[in-house]
Amino acid sequence: MLTTSLQSVDKSNQHLNREGEDVIQGLTNEFKYLPPKYFYDDHGSNLFEQICELPEYYPTRTEAWILSQYADEIAQITGACELVELGSGSSTKTLFLLDAYQKNAPDSKYIPIDVSGGILKSTVVKLQQKYPTFSIQGLIGTYEQALVKLESTPASSRMIFFLGSSMGNFNPLESNTFLSQISKTLQPGDYFLLGIDLQKPKEILEPAYNDSQGVTAAFNLNMLSHLNWRFQGNFDLNLFSHQAIYNQADTQIEMYLHCQKSHWVSLDILDLKVFFTQGESILTEISRKFDLANLQKQLQSKHLKTVKIWTDPQEWFGLILCQV
Ligand code: AVI
Repeated sequence: MLTTSLQSVDKSNQHLNREGEDVIQGLTNEFKYLPPKYFYDDHGSNLFEQICELPEYYPTRTEAWILSQYADEIAQITGACELVELGSGSSTKTLFLLDAYQKNAPDSKYIPIDVSGGILKSTVVKLQQKYPTFSIQGLIGTYEQALVKLESTPASSRMIFFLGSSMGNFNPLESNTFLSQISKTLQPGDYFLLGIDLQKPKEILEPAYNDSQGVTAAFNLNMLSHLNWRFQGNFDLNLFSHQAIYNQADTQIEMYLHCQKSHWVSLDILDLKVFFTQGESILTEISRKFDLANLQKQLQSKHLKTVKIWTDPQEWFGLILCQV
């Protein structure tokens, strides 16, 4: 039977965070920062899709290669289950997994979760046509909101998957909280599949976040347009420039918006006025690069035991399958 639907978990969980509180906190901090979730309005999500196609941005194609090689094996290990994808975007890489489950475990169900309603909607419609036997239910919301929602959904067997090294965008504390929530959401025997970008030389990492076509710069700056629209702001995009550097000590890429000229910015809906000094930067994203042994220890401490790890021949990217 074909069941396709889209549900928003935004409203039911509004108590979790007052809208824009995180922006106020970030912009009034001594070292200004903004949460990366504000990258992803519909335009930002489209720009991110373009980043994934860039020659310098190796993570997407490397992870896709790993999935193309090993998706069948993953489906054979887990058998039929409820497939829950966090941050599905346009689900391009997921097709390898869905193909494998259709072949090896056709009774599976697919629940893509994403904050961008526009992209999620078109993805669900597209996938509904491609996989008519799957039950597909899209959830619009953040991971936190959606995982809370899933907790109340009884399911026989489940695999949550989080691809694209999106966990790299969480700081260590956030990763810890996130993995605890995953572990709490899953039942004994359930699976967690995690795609992560591995540590490698700066010469490969920095160009991946400073592409020659300027798409990553546009993606970074779009966060300010998004804030202007969402909170009635007056950020002038011409007064900021994109910067991405690899912080070797913390093994993370750091993306900044660098202020070119001292000026005031207001965000009327938040009743906020902020002064930016020439030369100061807003941290918009960290992208951590992982070490497999350390990550396995962290997963194990959350009762997520490694079943198998797959990588590419250069060991640039890793896919870890864990079981509770
Ligand atoms: C979504 N996330 C895993 C990307 C990354 O590589 O950290 C976001 C990104 N930012 C700039 N380019 C890509």
